[in-house]
Amino acid sequence: MQFSTKTTALSNTPTSCLVLGVFINGNLPDATAEIDKACGKSISKILKAGDISGKIKESVLIQQPQAIKAKRILLVGLGKKTGLSLKKYTEVLRYTALQLNRYSLEDCVLGFPGLDVEKTDSERLAIQTAKVFTNAEYRYSETLSKARPALKLKRVSLAVSTKQRSRAKKGLDTGAAIALGMNEARNLGNLPGNFCTPTYLAEQAKKLATKNKLLKTKVLSEAQMKRLGMHSLLSVGHGSDEPSALIIMEYKGSTAATKPQVLVGKGITFDTGGISLKPGAAMDEMKFDMCGAASVFGTMHALCALKPKINVIGIVAAAENMPSARATKPGDVVTSMSGQTIEILNTDAEGRLVLCDALTYAKRFKPKTVIDIATLTGACVATFGNVVSGLLSNDDELADSLYQCGLDALDPAWRLPLWDEYQKMLHSNFADMANIGGRYGGTITAACFLSRFTEDFKWAHLDIAGTAWNQGEQKGATGRPVPLLMEYLLRG
Ligand code: BES
Ligand code: MN
Ligand code: ZN
Repeated sequence: MQFSTKTTALSNTPTSCLVLGVFINGNLPDATAEIDKACGKSISKILKAGDISGKIKESVLIQQPQAIKAKRILLVGLGKKTGLSLKKYTEVLRYTALQLNRYSLEDCVLGFPGLDVEKTDSERLAIQTAKVFTNAEYRYSETLSKARPALKLKRVSLAVSTKQRSRAKKGLDTGAAIALGMNEARNLGNLPGNFCTPTYLAEQAKKLATKNKLLKTKVLSEAQMKRLGMHSLLSVGHGSDEPSALIIMEYKGSTAATKPQVLVGKGITFDTGGISLKPGAAMDEMKFDMCGAASVFGTMHALCALKPKINVIGIVAAAENMPSARATKPGDVVTSMSGQTIEILNTDAEGRLVLCDALTYAKRFKPKTVIDIATLTGACVATFGNVVSGLLSNDDELADSLYQCGLDALDPAWRLPLWDEYQKMLHSNFADMANIGGRYGGTITAACFLSRFTEDFKWAHLDIAGTAWNQGEQKGATGRPVPLLMEYLLRG
């Protein structure tokens, strides 16, 4: 998708389709009123006829409007004039993309200059615009014999005032890069477990590095991980024929002296539960258990597209969790890279087992902060549904920052307490800790487990078990939390 800005008078702008907004009660934004006047009140007439009430998800297409250069006008409802939020504006954009596609249009001008969206500047509006339209382009095609029809829209132009132009341009670039990263994350997430293996993920990381000068990739084999003492990570893949891998992607946009932000992604390419086998229902969805890793990949893609002057390291702990004669058994004890021993009471609590060694490994980069992203607990889905990601941290400033970034990027996360009172639930008689904490507070005890490997740096954990993919008819990866991560990283 190509994005641009337009500062010419809307009536004078040639386009296949000029998109204009109308509020409920026939209230017109300035730009719409201006065009209405220019084209002989044809918009007022349509409103009077009651063809559109101005509610969100309503539209009317006007063919060959008079006296303006646009071939069509798409009138879209903006809802109530007061209290137009960025969330609602996003709904309008999504709906607009669908309508434009329905009419097979290849280009459009979004005629919303000066639209007053609550607490939102022109850069944010542009980010959101590019994000929505680039997301609308995504089609899953990897394992289909016939590709689904592509989005026809190729060029979107955003009408802005001359004063807004440079911020809007910057926003469009940022939003397009973020959505490109999201689409990448969605695609990796959607890819079935028999395609997307740890080895496949490692290959993708290497490929990304050959295409981008600012990126370096390193892949640690099982033998190399063994030498580092990563027996917790390795225990997860014991039952699988697919070798585990630790993937390290270094994005260098700044000098070597600049401390990096480190992202660590859970990359379980399929989670059967292992010997603690999961029930059959919806087990196919456990191909999405690498969506934390996918969000790290997506973020690296977005960084490569945008090239900000920062340093970011992406680490992916990749393994397949299978039952077999060689698989880890409940009660087995392993020694992690940190030296701490772990009693594996439930082989289905495998995410924390791969993450803990990856987090210990992260220390060598002397990170500014470390954020891990993981589809870690069913308990998180029970708590937050699919709206909000779980956020736990050993640092208040980092937690506050991620919380704010989530709100601003419309990719929200909500903090849960990482308090000492919960730590004792991980007690084991046979190791330094158990890998599960009992029946209650599952998201918190999982984070407590991780916190024992992150004492040397500022760390936050994002549990995306509910937000990483949609179920049902719209089953598929969402690309979250790439927007949240990019918002955080770009704030520096
Ligand atoms: N990948 C799952 C978590 C999950 C389950 C995410 C359902 C999304 C939907 C994770 O590896 C897991 O199995 N967690 C267990 C932990 C338990 C054994 C302590 C869980 O949440 O049931
Ligand atoms: Mn599991
Ligand atoms: Zn899992």
